[in-house]
Amino acid sequence: MLDLLRSRPPRTSLQAPLYTDPDMFALDIDGIFATQWLFATTDAEIPDPGDYVTVEFGTLSLIIVRGDDGTVRALHNVCRHRGARVMTDRRGSTARLTCAYHSWTYNTDGTLLHASSPGETFDRTCFSLRTAHVRSICGLIFVCIAADPPTDIDDLEEAVTPYLAGFDIASAKVATQIDLLEEGNWKLTMENNRECYHCGGHPELACSLFATWGLTADTVPPELAADWDRSLLADAALQERCDRHGLPWKIIEHLTDRDAGFRISREALDKTGESFSVTGDRLSQKLLGDLPDFRLGRTSLHVQPNAWFHGLSDHVITFAAYPVSADRTLVRTTWLVAEDAVAGEDYDVDELTYVWRHTNAQDADFVQLAQQGISSPGYVPGPYMRSEDQVEAFISWYTAHMSSHLDGHLDGHREGRAQA
Ligand code: FES
Ligand SMILES: [Fe+2]
Repeated sequence: MLDLLRSRPPRTSLQAPLYTDPDMFALDIDGIFATQWLFATTDAEIPDPGDYVTVEFGTLSLIIVRGDDGTVRALHNVCRHRGARVMTDRRGSTARLTCAYHSWTYNTDGTLLHASSPGETFDRTCFSLRTAHVRSICGLIFVCIAADPPTDIDDLEEAVTPYLAGFDIASAKVATQIDLLEEGNWKLTMENNRECYHCGGHPELACSLFATWGLTADTVPPELAADWDRSLLADAALQERCDRHGLPWKIIEHLTDRDAGFRISREALDKTGESFSVTGDRLSQKLLGDLPDFRLGRTSLHVQPNAWFHGLSDHVITFAAYPVSADRTLVRTTWLVAEDAVAGEDYDVDELTYVWRHTNAQDADFVQLAQQGISSPGYVPGPYMRSEDQVEAFISWYTAHMSSHLDGHLDGHREGRAQA
């Protein structure tokens, strides 16, 4: 794997085995998903004590649960008796976590409450569910199973909080959530999300998202010149409005120079500029949090390695990619509206989800096509175009982190051999 990573020419897609080989997928789980902060869920999805969701990254399974004390914890979903998976539902609410195998029962803080017929020396306090690190940033819950999680999540929090705080995601209401199983490697899901080179395949999204996303003045092709000019005017108007309200709008990008790599921006939408609808009009009648205006464009956040988010004044959409196997990725999309927004009155779920339901389905098709082609003996890595800078940023981040993880292992083996 290290050879394949090191031999990648810049701005070139990866070699096929990195997208298709189950052994390489296992290394991805080890080198990326067991070492980095991962987006798991939102506070809005587990508002009350006992509420939980289970999330899986390959073989890694975690229970994210709100305890009786209101604290959110991430618990390894592995029974301390003989290792069975404890919670099997995707979400729920429970006072106790009970393993189905021999009924060991845990509190929502992970402590073992009950194990039948214990021996005399059995000490319950030694068998709590193992915990992982958990961090809520403006209502977005990240987890990390590493003993020493990357500390630059602090920088991410500091940078994104001024952009996200006004949405009050933690108090929002889940309008709906849709899981989509993409037939492709998780990296193809993320690569696809990082460019709009394929946005001609998104007719619904193209109504409100400028087709020039990801381009710069130097890279706009002649056929998009009119869209580019319109987007500049819309961005200037948005920036003036944000300045008036004291809201940040400048792009902050640290996609490759951090563990917790991210990019956040606030950019204008086309048409009436309020939301991701065909007309650009709002899709919910209630403003989120304490936002002052419906025309605040889209606040878009991308976090390495597995998530992206769009914040509109009327709703927030979170996207999480959970790797399932070398050629399958679960994409979970969650639509959040204001706490007091009423379905059927303030918003209609079908209308709210219309653009991204279609966009996600189209993206799933693109990812599947890519996986199919890359799995063929005819595949050779291809070049990233000028509008695919963020694809390169994602792959650079991945390559650097995997290489250093594998390097560390090799060093360990070498030291072991030298000592032997
Ligand atoms: S493995 Fe869970 S109770 Fe036995
Ligand atoms: Fe897309």
